[in-house]
Amino acid sequence: MALYIGVMSGTSLDGLDIALIEQNPAINLIGTHYIPMPDDLRTELLSLCASGPDEIARSALAQQHWVTLAAKGIHALLEQHALKPQDIRAIGSHGQTIRHEPARGFTVQIGNPALLTELTSITVVSDFRSRDVAAGGQGAPLVPAFHEALFGERAGNRAVLNVGGFSNLSLIETDKPVAGFDCGPGNVLLDAWIHNQRGEHFDRDGQWAAGGQVEPALLNALLSDPFFLTKGPKSTGREVFNLGWLQHHLARLPAFQAENVQATLLELTALTIVESLQSAQTDTETLLVCGGGAHNATLMKRLAALLPSTQVSSTATYGVDPDWVEAMAFAWLAHCCLEGIAANRPSVTGARGLRVLGAIYPA
Ligand SMILES: Nc1ncnc2c1ncn2[C@@H]1O[C@H](COP(=O)(O)OP(=O)(O)OP(=O)(O)O)[C@@H](O)[C@H]1O
Ligand SMILES: [Mg+2]
Repeated sequence: MALYIGVMSGTSLDGLDIALIEQNPAINLIGTHYIPMPDDLRTELLSLCASGPDEIARSALAQQHWVTLAAKGIHALLEQHALKPQDIRAIGSHGQTIRHEPARGFTVQIGNPALLTELTSITVVSDFRSRDVAAGGQGAPLVPAFHEALFGERAGNRAVLNVGGFSNLSLIETDKPVAGFDCGPGNVLLDAWIHNQRGEHFDRDGQWAAGGQVEPALLNALLSDPFFLTKGPKSTGREVFNLGWLQHHLARLPAFQAENVQATLLELTALTIVESLQSAQTDTETLLVCGGGAHNATLMKRLAALLPSTQVSSTATYGVDPDWVEAMAFAWLAHCCLEGIAANRPSVTGARGLRVLGAIYPA
């Protein structure tokens, strides 16, 4: 039995998810801690997602701020469970993605793992994506192997859908290597539009979207993006889908009511997920949803309506809280790294082969 901690700070920039897991070898969630992203850090990280002045020093300072929060959260979690640093085998720290450009051969997650080791006295594993990109892969998604480890024992064709800033699918079928890819924007555009229009960070339960009408002309324009027309392996990020991308399309069309734009963005998220699923798997019995999007009742209802012969539910149905799946994955990825277990899936990322992922900062 070994204990690991996973730290995930996703593209939504909503906060840091910290999960304590037991690897027994069955994977169990023991404890959790959430740190909302402070507004000043969110603004700085968002600005580091595009080129700007003095990026090297600014990114170094942003990482220091981020890592201080992560370390505080880890100490709180240890205290809550009466654990000492030496009780934890390792921390798997994803860091914050500020660039993801696998086609140009790089992906960048910042999070100063050396400082995290110093502040916690626990071995840190980080930089999980670069090795897969170096091997010709997308470096994302990395969670399908974990989704398979968690939900692989069940019968029938299953898919696991994570709706974070972006959405990604894992396709699990008996006697077949797990498949998966990014579907497109998950919450990122919904968050960006409501923030732009109403100053809120997200559309709770999709209520604002539910009060609007889908605008077909806008939906078709958005769906014409080449990303949706390409088959996997594929991954995406804020380089492609951001507020500017939406505004570029809006500028070419007559003006729409703001809530109709939100309704159209929700439909875009739902449709691109369903089309991606149907292009890669037939007879999906169960679609298990995790990530913040699992709380968006309007989105969940729309997914269920578009998939009448599939059971659509949150991963909670299978006993795993949807808010912690990604952080648990990075705890598990730290375990894989220390054990020398390859955790990328060439069938998912397109890498030349299996690779052990991550860089180790020993305590
Ligand atoms: N009750 C809710 N109703 C609607 N949307 C919600 C709700 N709760 C969370 N969300 C959405 O979920 C987002 C956060 O999801 P999550 O933390 O899974 O994404 P992430 O940080 O981008 O993670 P990752 O990159 O690992 O997928 C929020 O920004 C918000 O858009
Ligand atoms: Mg998050």
